[in-house]
Amino acid sequence: MGVFTFVCRSSGADWSAKQLTGDLEASASSTYELQRKLVQAALAADSSGGVTSSFSMVSPCSAVFQKETEARKNRVMPRPEIQAPPEIFYNEAEARKYTTSSRIIEIQAKISERALELLALPNDGVPRLLLDIGCGSGLSGETLSENGHHWIGYDISQSMLDVAREREAEGDLLLADMGQGLGLRPGVIDGAISISAVQWLCYADKSFHEPRMRLKAFFGSLYRCLARGARAVLQLYAENMYQSEMIMTYAMRAGFAGGVVVDWPHSSKARKAYLVLTCGPPSMQTSLPKGKGEDGEMCSDDDESGDDESQTVGIYDRNRPRKKLKVNKKGKGKEWVLKKKEQMRRRGHDVPPDTKYTARKRKARF
Ligand SMILES: C[S@@+](CC[C@H](N)C(=O)[O-])C[C@H]1O[C@@H](n2cnc3c(N)ncnc32)[C@H](O)[C@@H]1O
Repeated sequence: MGVFTFVCRSSGADWSAKQLTGDLEASASSTYELQRKLVQAALAADSSGGVTSSFSMVSPCSAVFQKETEARKNRVMPRPEIQAPPEIFYNEAEARKYTTSSRIIEIQAKISERALELLALPNDGVPRLLLDIGCGSGLSGETLSENGHHWIGYDISQSMLDVAREREAEGDLLLADMGQGLGLRPGVIDGAISISAVQWLCYADKSFHEPRMRLKAFFGSLYRCLARGARAVLQLYAENMYQSEMIMTYAMRAGFAGGVVVDWPHSSKARKAYLVLTCGPPSMQTSLPKGKGEDGEMCSDDDESGDDESQTVGIYDRNRPRKKLKVNKKGKGKEWVLKKKEQMRRRGHDVPPDTKYTARKRKARF
């Protein structure tokens, strides 16, 4: 059976409850006593054990009681990404459920700490300006604050951001779709993390969504806003190899160097993949660290014997070296601009006419 839902009503001091789709019922003189009776009634009907129960007041004299059993909890649920678009999936109820689950809080904190470690920021005590992309209710950003950094959080779910605000998240929160680009000035960010979010870009939720274009916009804008040499560490749950490759391809096309660090590769439960990207050409300092547990060591919170489907560290270099621009001291020069415009006209693009203002030097603007 799995889930039991009861509609509860009070008349005077007494409460009574009827099962929504069954015959179970109970009555008691307090809501506490009623809940206890309902748990017992549900257990008697389904002995697979209770996991969670909730009692929500609808009005002063009515409420809904729900109890889930082990059988339902252990059912394999479809991935959130295929259930609904993120802004719908993470609605008010889900945002609260997500943020009050001690298991999720613990897991997200561990992943965020590891992502921060992989960012390899200089250990000089100077606070950095970081991004938390898909920041949700602020669980991952909390780790950044605890380590003394400033951060800007992007999320597409208003409910998740509301919970983040309620929890007094210290970052600046932006309601935005990362698939449309981050819209930040070039080179202003010292590092970025994204925890359990980027795989959402692989799903087309709207008729005009094209995952490849969204990945392109995301990685292009991420590359531009990062300072040279800065890193982005993206922990994500790709559904299959096709998605991993697509994400990697667009990261590399944007100009990033880097690769994937896999922690606990032998554990199906604790295995986590981090895309570690560096802005600018690869160097000794940007070489990838080893994944945890690569040498067969088991994770402490893993109770499984592990599977052998393991990839340790995949190193990828930029596959599209940037063309070196010929720039003289005065910039590219009028001649270069005129040549480019001519080239574009020949390709059939709509190009503004050449005037005395073409290629003029512009004032530096804020
Ligand atoms: C599993 S939650 C992780 C939240 C947070 N990083 C944490 O560790 O708790 C994934 C988050 O990604 C956000 N997200 C998904 N697609 C997004 C998009 N296109 N733009 C911005 N945020 C997105 C969701 O709204 C959700 O809050």
